[in-house]
Amino acid sequence: MKDFSEIKEQVKAKLEAVADGSQLSEFWQSYLGKTGVIQGLMKEMKSVPAEEKPLFGKAVNDVREWAQELYRKKQSEIKALELSHRYERETADVTMPSPVSQGNLHPITLIKQQMIEVFAGMGFEVFEGPEIEDDDHNFTRLNVLKDHPSRDMQDTFWLTEDLLLRTHTSPGQIRTMDAKKPPIKVLVPGKVFRSDSDATHSPMFSQMEGLVVDKGITLCDLQGMLDKFVQNMFSDSAKTRLRPSYFPFTEPSVEVDVSCFECGGKGCPLCKGTGWIEVLGGGVVNKKVLENCGIDPEEYSGLAFGIGIERIAMLKYGISRMGMLFENNLDFLSQFKS
Ligand code: PHE
Repeated sequence: MKDFSEIKEQVKAKLEAVADGSQLSEFWQSYLGKTGVIQGLMKEMKSVPAEEKPLFGKAVNDVREWAQELYRKKQSEIKALELSHRYERETADVTMPSPVSQGNLHPITLIKQQMIEVFAGMGFEVFEGPEIEDDDHNFTRLNVLKDHPSRDMQDTFWLTEDLLLRTHTSPGQIRTMDAKKPPIKVLVPGKVFRSDSDATHSPMFSQMEGLVVDKGITLCDLQGMLDKFVQNMFSDSAKTRLRPSYFPFTEPSVEVDVSCFECGGKGCPLCKGTGWIEVLGGGVVNKKVLENCGIDPEEYSGLAFGIGIERIAMLKYGISRMGMLFENNLDFLSQFKS
């Protein structure tokens, strides 16, 4: 009766030499697989005398189990080894300096955030409307009626007969009043679009709409809030001046100037010698607009304003050409670390 010691020696030696996963599977195929050496031993059964067949079969099984056991031990060694190699390869030294330079926020984003912060301090919340609007929200319910000449104040990008790229953030007023009952105090920041392009105009720019609706709101509240705004944005001594203007959705309407923060009002190139710089439009919400939103103008009144964010950024940072804000020149943009 064979004790298969020769085969066992071979198995031991081969397994000992195995150094990685692929050698291990080679070993499995040549010794333990269907066409492997140990399976091959069964073929010798033919030449074994009948009474010894059971013993022979058991002996082959014992060898197989013994070899499988050794195989499994080796398998877990190899797994542990490969894992530790992987850990070594993937180790990162977190104390190494980063190879990429750190980015910074775009000046428009910085100004927008600062504006939101100032108004949030006065109790405003932020609401955003869609950039694709319909005629109703962008014009009609804001009292900009069809065929009225005031429609031509803004050169509109029409998408269909009814849909357009919003020309201002004022449709946010309508959407807010549809969604909320007074008291209302919201800011609507966002991109707006007009077919207009020169040194101070771009077909896409950003506005910040403000809307307050409550009992007893007057133009004085508008000026009080805007004074706080310009003081926070430009200088502690800044103040505002209201000039009469016209917007279909406010009555009365005003154009708002800030006292020149460069010369303090004496007159300089920035304010073109006038001591004042125009910064935004606003007014008392037109009663028709309140009615269009189901708010009783006998009970409530409101104020609204629209601020051009690029304009504020250009004034604050002394940027002379609006295009610089959209050209993504990194030398320019990287100056605005907050
Ligand atoms: N929507 C106006 C514009 O884009 C600005 C504005 C907003 C005026 C709110 C009055 C009230 O020119």
